[in-house]
This record gives sequence, structure tokens and C-alpha cells, in this order.
Amino acid sequence: MKITCTGHAGLFIETAHGSILCDPWRSPAYFASWFVFPDNSGIDFASFQPDYLYLSHLHRDHFDPDVLARFVPKTTTVLLPDFPTDDLRRELGELGFRSFVETRDGEPLDLGGLRIMISAMTSPADGPLGDSALAVDDGEIKFLNQNDSRPRDFDLINAFGPYDGHSLQFSGAIWWPVVYDLAEATKSALGARKRENGMARATRFAESVAAKFVFPNSGPPALLDDELFAFNDFSNSDDNPFPDQTVYLDYLARHGHDNGRLLIPGSTAELVAGAGDTRCTVTHPMPDDDVRRIFTDKHAYLEAYAERERPRIAAERASWPRYDGDLAVALAEWWDPLLALADRIGPGVGVPVLLEIGDEKIVIDFGAREVRRWLGEECRYRFAMAHELVEALVAEHEIDWVNSLFLSLRFRASRRGQYNEFIYTFFKCLAPERLSYAEGWYAEQEGSDELIRIGDYMVQRRCPHLKADLARFGEVHDGVLQCGMHGWRFDLATGRCLTSEAHQLRSVPVAEADGAGAEVGG
Ligand code: FES
Repeated sequence: MKITCTGHAGLFIETAHGSILCDPWRSPAYFASWFVFPDNSGIDFASFQPDYLYLSHLHRDHFDPDVLARFVPKTTTVLLPDFPTDDLRRELGELGFRSFVETRDGEPLDLGGLRIMISAMTSPADGPLGDSALAVDDGEIKFLNQNDSRPRDFDLINAFGPYDGHSLQFSGAIWWPVVYDLAEATKSALGARKRENGMARATRFAESVAAKFVFPNSGPPALLDDELFAFNDFSNSDDNPFPDQTVYLDYLARHGHDNGRLLIPGSTAELVAGAGDTRCTVTHPMPDDDVRRIFTDKHAYLEAYAERERPRIAAERASWPRYDGDLAVALAEWWDPLLALADRIGPGVGVPVLLEIGDEKIVIDFGAREVRRWLGEECRYRFAMAHELVEALVAEHEIDWVNSLFLSLRFRASRRGQYNEFIYTFFKCLAPERLSYAEGWYAEQEGSDELIRIGDYMVQRRCPHLKADLARFGEVHDGVLQCGMHGWRFDLATGRCLTSEAHQLRSVPVAEADGAGAEVGG
């Protein structure tokens, strides 16, 4: 099996039984904020001519309409994850793709000697209502392309293994805490925690899969616009949430794993089954010293990259559509009917959220379920953004502001109190179909769950956030249970979530509970 890195999460997987192009991305994403790191403008996407196309999800650093339209033959068969909405299929159809294979979540599929399995994650927090991982088996080599997905059922994934190669995300793709108005020391401490959590989670994934070789991918982005440039991690700062591939490979090695391999755009990894073992040969598109310099002299590399992209950023900015109507009226007409459907999201937020849009102040009142002008009241959650960005979102009727505004990092935020997941779920569900799906998903979560023993407590086995298996991902320190999937923390004595509102862990002292379960240490 030969795997070519095309940049970020992009891979071209070649086997004797067919080839798969995965997540080809090159165009700047999220209001021209994100660029591929390292630069992949030298990749000739037209040369690939794949048998199959796999798009893990609709985030714009994975789904690039321009590359798909210009370089991928429309006769290519698309391998579709088992998502709850048909947004991915519809967008591909609009680009001209006509041949689709609808996979079933976690079910292996034989494509004439090439076996695949796509694991689909479908909670409101998984990508834009759907993210996925692809497992490939060509009869000799098994490869897991996890990209930035966060599978919760590793028994299912591993039943397809054991794997020879595993690609996965390790770096931040998030706006927390960088856009928040916080004291520098606080922001530094939170950034350090974010950085450590991301690499620790990736390492848990790598250990759970236990592939022979690990390939860090899907990040970090290069942030090239002047107003975002300082967010890049130029010199391995402990508090920067965007560590690069080499930082993670060092982290892996420090944690006892010397099987990580660096890929940059144009690198190939040949995985060959040998007598009792698998060999991996990595070939880079440039001399090793030049590869190293990208990472050791990153500031100069990114400055030169930004200079090359300056005209494109300016052109993108000039292309954002304008809206000259009343934004408060437009948002109320659009969102009030959605808020009426938000029986769980509404109370889950419960308070007014302030949007400062240029000089305008508009409130999403989740308690009263209406959008209105700000009346001067205290708002615990506040987002401030440029007027032109919201104009573009309204003009295009963008139904996923996470996959546009929030990932762009082109806003400021503040909050008093905890993170509230429901706010972001609302912003990614700005259409009735999506909102109804999210509401239904939350309703389903309210069912019962198996209990396991953690220290002196019996707790629900599945994390109240997104159902990670706490027998695998739970760690206890000083009476606090931390789920390693996204780092949420729960007070064992009370079950209270210390990270986010409106989530409670079922937790009962062992002495008061019947039965026992698996012990989780830490
Ligand atoms: S599943 Fe997200 S913190 Fe547990």
C-alpha cells in the first residue's frame, strides 16, 4: 500500500485493488483564515485519477469544492459515510458527482478485493453533524485514516484491524482560548491545557489502535492573514494550542512510542508486509534538511508563505457578499422559527447571548426563544465580529456558522461561567432539519446507562458529553473524573460537570450502589 500525503488530512491511498483519494484540500478555508501547513501548492491533484473518493466530513479543510470541481473526475465513485443528513451527498451532487456507495456505520464492505469500513460519528458535536474514519484493507496492509474524527467505539474499529498504519489529528482546530478576552496568564494556562489535552488524546487513540506506524495529520492550519498570524505556534510554545507534527512526534516518543512518522505534502509512505512484520519507507519531496527547516525556522517559512498568499487573501475578502438589509430583522426572521423548535437547546443555554456585530448589538434570547435588539442587560456569553462577516453569512444563508465564522478565528468572545455546548450546537444547526436532528439526539441521551466502578463511586460508563467509554478514557485525580476524549471534568461526589453546563454525571458512592464494575485508576 502506498500512501501519499496531499496536505492536512489529505491522503491518496494506492493499492493493488484500487485507489482512494481522501479529503483533498488546498483552497483557503473559513473566510480565508486557514491554509494548508506545510504549503501544498505543489501537489498536482489532477494526476491522481482515483477509483474512489472519500470525504470524511463537510468541514472546509476536508471538503474543498474548488479542488473537487477542477481536479477530481466526476466519474469517481464516492464512498459516503452513514450520516444522518444528506448534506454531503447533496453538495457532491451539485459538483457533478453521480456515483455513490452508501456505507453502513461500522460495516465492512468488499469493493472487489479492497475492503473498507467507515465509522460514522453523528452527534451534534461531531464535525458539521457528522465526522468519520475510514479503514482500508488491501489483503496485505490495513490502514486507519482517523483524520480529526473521535470514534467512541474502538472495539468496532479494532475488529477490522490489526492495523499497520494509522493517521490522526493531534493539534487544535478550535478557537478556544485564543479568541477569548482573558488575562494573559489565564489564557496561557488554558492554552497549555488545550495543547496537552490534544496530544494526550491523540496518544490514547494511537495506543487504543496500536498500529505499527502512526502518521500525525489534519493540522495545524497555517494562519496567514495579518490579523491571525500571531496565533501560529512559531517556536513550540507550551501554551499554544496549535503544535505541529514534529512536536507531536517528540511527544509520542517521550511517551514510549517511536513508531511515529512525519509526512508533509508530497511525502509517500510505502507500507509493505514482510516476514512477520511490516516495513514503512517514507520518501519526502525535498531533501531532509529542507523538510527540517520548515519546522525549525517556522516563522520565516510562514512569513514567506503569507507573502505569497497576500493577493489571494485580498481577493477572497473582496468577494465576500454584502447584505444591506436590517441584520436584526433578518436574523429574527431566520432564527425565531428555529428557536421555537429548540426544546432542549433553548433551556440548555437558557440566557441571552450577545452578538456585537460591528456597532450593532443583537441578542439571541434562548430563554424567551427570540432574537431581538440588545436592551442593555448583562449577557454572560458575548461574541464580537465584523459587520461584513455577518453580512456574508446572511447573504449566503450559511446554516453552519461553526464551519464558517467560528473556525475562522475572526471574532472575539467572552463568557462568565462555563462553556456551553448548546450554543455552538445552535450555531451549526441553522436549518430546521439540522436543528431537529440535534434535538432528537439530545433526547436520546437521556436514557439509562451501565454503571462502572471508579474509585469509591459507581458512575455511568458513557461520558455525559459524547458517550466516550469512561472505563477507557476516564482518569481520576483528587475526586475529579476527567474524560480524556475532550477533557471534560466531573466532580465525583456530586456528579456536577466542572467544564460545561447542563451535563450531569450519574455518580453514586459504592456503599449505596448495588453491584460492581470495572475499576478505573489514575
Ligand atoms: S466524550 Fe467529550 S469529554 Fe467525554
